[in-house]
Amino acid sequence: MLMREEKYKEFLKKINERLLTHRIIQNNSYCKWFREADLTLKQVKDLTVQFSVFSNWFLVAQLKKTINAPDLESMRAAKEILANEIGVLYHKKGSKPVEGLDYPSEGSVDGGTFHFTAGHFEWLLKFAKPLGLGFKDLGHRKHGTESTLFFVDELDRIYGSEDFTTSVGASYAVEHWAHLGFWKDLIQGLTNFKEKSGIKIPLGFFIWHDLVEDQHAAHTDEELKEIYMKDENFDEELFIRSGNEMLDGVAAFWDGLFKTC
Ligand SMILES: [Fe+2]
Repeated sequence: MLMREEKYKEFLKKINERLLTHRIIQNNSYCKWFREADLTLKQVKDLTVQFSVFSNWFLVAQLKKTINAPDLESMRAAKEILANEIGVLYHKKGSKPVEGLDYPSEGSVDGGTFHFTAGHFEWLLKFAKPLGLGFKDLGHRKHGTESTLFFVDELDRIYGSEDFTTSVGASYAVEHWAHLGFWKDLIQGLTNFKEKSGIKIPLGFFIWHDLVEDQHAAHTDEELKEIYMKDENFDEELFIRSGNEMLDGVAAFWDGLFKTC
């Protein structure tokens, strides 16, 4: 057991060196630019539309992750995210919602209530409305650019994979990408835009996601350790390769937005 623990530490080192160094984690040109830019309405609309396509189609990948889970515990972990995405509120005894946030950011969907308006897509609709975007403008494949659709399809292929090591590699990569800051760049850029333009966009969707990412990243850390400790033959190379392929998909998404701005 102790030897396995040592091996796990070695493996984490490899992950740090060969996965978390991916350029889209280390240097996301679009988000860097977005944070400081004097954004036009068109640029904010473009982000919103492409994000809505990703956000909507992420549901399919998350459902596949749930269905393909190798055990009940993993299935529940995947369902937590899926159910919350479609509108089941997190629920934790005694916890109070963070001030200024529409919905609780801690707890489990077990015992939580469902609200249509709490579905992340509807939340994004609320954000998009003051920009002049409605339901018909958002979330479908026909609204996605080639780069966004590549990302969405890679999510389906890798994150939603039947092979557990592949899907765990992808979710580890996705959660660590999300955890390492892009929400903060978007929030800053959108706050600047809101102040300058006077358009009253509600930023709750972005602020909430930034807050929960810490929890998600911690979950994928636990998930990885558990699998690794249990499986002597854990395929490290497949995990790292899958994570990197997933991040190439993520990079295509941001690069696509950068090309059109
Ligand atoms: Fe979400």
